[in-house]
Amino acid sequence: MKAWRLQKYNKDVGAAIDSLTLEDIPVPEPQDGNVLIKTACCSVNPVDWKLFSGAMDAMFPQVFPSTPGFDVAGVVEKVGPGVTDLAVGDRITCDLGGASSNKQGPSGAFAEYCIAPVDFCSKVGDIDFETVVGLPLAGITAFQGLFTGIHKQDLGHCKEGDKVLILGGAGGVGTFALQLASNAGCHVATTASPAKFDFVKGLGAKEIINYHDQDWGEVLAGQDYDLIFDCIGLMDDLKVRAPKVLKKGGKFISIANFDPSAAKATDDIEFAVFLTVSNRTDLDKMVQMMKDGKLKVVNDTVYPFAETQAALKQSMGGRTSGKVVIKL
Ligand SMILES: NC(=O)c1ccc[n+]([C@@H]2O[C@H](COP(=O)([O-])OP(=O)(O)OC[C@H]3O[C@@H](n4cnc5c(N)ncnc54)[C@H](OP(=O)(O)O)[C@@H]3O)[C@@H](O)[C@H]2O)c1
Repeated sequence: MKAWRLQKYNKDVGAAIDSLTLEDIPVPEPQDGNVLIKTACCSVNPVDWKLFSGAMDAMFPQVFPSTPGFDVAGVVEKVGPGVTDLAVGDRITCDLGGASSNKQGPSGAFAEYCIAPVDFCSKVGDIDFETVVGLPLAGITAFQGLFTGIHKQDLGHCKEGDKVLILGGAGGVGTFALQLASNAGCHVATTASPAKFDFVKGLGAKEIINYHDQDWGEVLAGQDYDLIFDCIGLMDDLKVRAPKVLKKGGKFISIANFDPSAAKATDDIEFAVFLTVSNRTDLDKMVQMMKDGKLKVVNDTVYPFAETQAALKQSMGGRTSGKVVIKL
């Protein structure tokens, strides 16, 4: 099969992307509890290229040569021992959950076939692959941050009437967070560039702050927000702006501020940062919302498989609206 491969870490991430090679390698064999997926589409998440520098090795150790990519959609080609709830031919999507959780060695999504734990895979019915493939990692992240939690971390419990601010509503995760919070009956505000105002409004934002020219800490000061969901990761957002906007005991939940000092940045608000955990239960719920017409995936650009490096470079630019997809 053809697979994109990285040979080694490189602090210069752009150069690491340039160094990716498309190689012919054996199709992997699914072991206990895993399935082999024939990839139809994959989608890009910032973590794909962030891993290339080596800075995240402690969380997601790479075995080289490694195949990047977390999000995949395609057809089950083969099932491993013990798999009873998926069958050959099932149309599925999943977030592969990181190389560290795959005991069969590196097997990323940017390849003609990949291996996935069955517990991470959701059947997608007749939703087209190009659309659904943007959902898993970004959607699960928004869902866990807003409504549930992971491991022992208690995260958001958004409910009708809550005031929720989403920092970075136009991005991959933000587009899901806007829709999920809005569907739950929350009053949703977000930060975005003026060119994206209509875009985020269409996804449920009731109040939009132009982060280039306005300080959201001033615009929303004293408005007693229940929750801020942070997809950007700026320390000043947590330390300086959030205390002005959140109600007493309000929560600041980040997916992007992993600075160890963040936990102690302020006494006045509850801070949590988390790494999403792939799982079928959360993904199933959102696939069902898509089937019911209550959740959509917005694709910014769809690249052919041969242009995977360009897809990664676009994501690295940080200006995408919704998802960047790769089609095989
Ligand atoms: N912890 C986890 O489990 C987890 C999971 C997923 C993602 N993440 C992290 O979360 C972050 C967001 O991921 P993503 O997939 O949503 O990224 P993304 O799709 O690349 O986000 C791009 C979007 O961010 C907007 N943006 C950039 N700077 C902004 C700012 N200062 N204020 C408001 N909007 C801004 C851009 O809008 P403009 O063009 O208008 O600037 C663009 O629409 C990344 O750092 C990613 O690594 C963490």
